[in-house]
Amino acid sequence: MTRRCDVLVIGAGLAGMACALELPSRMSVILLSKVRLPAGSTCLAQGGLAAPVAPDDSIDLHIADTVAAGGDLVDRAVARRIISSGPALVEKLRSWGVPLEGTDNGLGGMEGGHSRRRVLHHTDRTGRWISENLAGLCRTRPNIEIMEGAFAINLITGPPGAEGSGDIPGHRCLGAYVLMGGEVHTFLSGETVIATGGAGKVYRYTSNDDWATGDGIAMAWRAGLPVRNMEFFQFHPTCLFHPERRNFLVTEALRGEGAVLLNLRGERFMERYDPAQMELAPRDVVARAIDSEMKRLGDDHVLLDARSLGRKRLEERFPEVTENVSALGILPWEEPIPVVPAAHYCVGGVVAGVDGETGMPGLRVIGEASSTGLHGANRLGSNSLLEAGVMGMEAARVIAEKGAEPPTRTVGDWYFGRATPLEESVLIDHAWAAIRSTMWDYVGIIRTDRRLRRALRILEVIDAEIDEDYWRLIPDVELLELRNLSTTARIIVLSALSRRESRGLHYNLDCREPVNPPRDTIIRN
Ligand code: FAD
Ligand code: SIN
Repeated sequence: MTRRCDVLVIGAGLAGMACALELPSRMSVILLSKVRLPAGSTCLAQGGLAAPVAPDDSIDLHIADTVAAGGDLVDRAVARRIISSGPALVEKLRSWGVPLEGTDNGLGGMEGGHSRRRVLHHTDRTGRWISENLAGLCRTRPNIEIMEGAFAINLITGPPGAEGSGDIPGHRCLGAYVLMGGEVHTFLSGETVIATGGAGKVYRYTSNDDWATGDGIAMAWRAGLPVRNMEFFQFHPTCLFHPERRNFLVTEALRGEGAVLLNLRGERFMERYDPAQMELAPRDVVARAIDSEMKRLGDDHVLLDARSLGRKRLEERFPEVTENVSALGILPWEEPIPVVPAAHYCVGGVVAGVDGETGMPGLRVIGEASSTGLHGANRLGSNSLLEAGVMGMEAARVIAEKGAEPPTRTVGDWYFGRATPLEESVLIDHAWAAIRSTMWDYVGIIRTDRRLRRALRILEVIDAEIDEDYWRLIPDVELLELRNLSTTARIIVLSALSRRESRGLHYNLDCREPVNPPRDTIIRN
């Protein structure tokens, strides 16, 4: 089946839905999500959305904090554009039925690296609140068709015709092949927007959901687009440490309200790592401190002590955390919560402008899958919902101005050749586990050249095997996700090997000092 639309949005997190909602009603929009809505990391966000709206705050202060966290790699012009659009995004969310707490009274949440209380939230269920409301609104719009369980496999690209070409010689994006109900469909669009989120599943332990397999980054890589700074993977300092619930986040906003970190001897160890900022130091500092403390004492976790907040405040302000940990028998008003760092946010991504523009005409990349330069070498907490929302709005504004019509040409259907169904799931399961263990053991919070080189050798073998399977098997979601996961892992390692210094989230024991002037890592297929 071939479907045509003006704009194809791949991904229905905040970035994709903000874009779809902002497009004019005259444009036909297809919004794809590989899982049912509400979906994506957006839905899991606890802390909130950072925006400079409090009376004691300013755009300049928010930029200064973003730059300070970003290891001298933040693009200041981009930061100014995104942060100055924060108040308009907050207003837009309100008009979409999502008023955020802290907007009117200067009582936003506090997180590491922020000098003001600017994290606007809805208790600690901010993301769910945004996702459910925006998905509900998208469903009411006659020009938006939502397709759930629709998995974008590859971009369709072709010679440009009259439309002009970008820096991929002679190519323009024409749409995507999409797996739906066991069949591969051809979607042709005037403009294609990748909004597929992050890639936390490349690591064994992560705050991300299972679907976060770097699909959009891998798709763009295969199409020849450049990716930037993929070595910077942010580890969240405090994910729950519990055998039954390994990927549950315990929000940093708790530390903003006074929760403290303790080692298993009961010592407040941040005193030794960052006595000035303590638990509210930027995430790279806190995650490395926890890692080092666990290694020093031979422990497999540390503790987050939130008892000082008291039961009432915990239940009212942090119901998501309180209910989830209580369900496991941990009463956070009576005892500290066991926590451990886990992979959380993909700082790098496909090189894109604030409006998602890429080097390929007809293709935009927005949200976590993109790299605008806002985060530099380390993302300031709660700046990603801001970036995702602003990029979605900006992409829509520019698409509306320029116009978008589906290509009239015909494009060949997906060719199955002699592909056969997968018969041995162990091939997928083993490769999946091997990639994630390799990344966790060799490409984690602390890296060395030897570990990185070993990781690359292992990943290259796995990648070649997956590639073989890809060409001989009928595509299914597990195989496609595995292929994307493998590509993304390899991109991370290649990027990490090419950075001969330690900066922000990339810490290599074989080259500990930063090298100036700072530079971005940009690589392509
Ligand atoms: P997502 O919200 O991740 O959405 C991705 C969408 O793409 C989904 O609909 C998915 O189904 C779809 N998709 C993916 N691949 C395909 C494919 N191949 N075909 C079709 N569809 C596809 N940031 C903050 O600023 N503040 C916070 O408080 C915060 N808390 C967080 C808590 C957790 C636990 C996590 C994991 C992240 C948190 N972040 C937070 C980060 C932030 O949530 C994300 O960066 C942001 O939501 C990304 O939005 P997005 O629209 O780019 O992608
Ligand atoms: C958190 O609530 O701790 C996560 C915030 C973020 O990742 O921005």
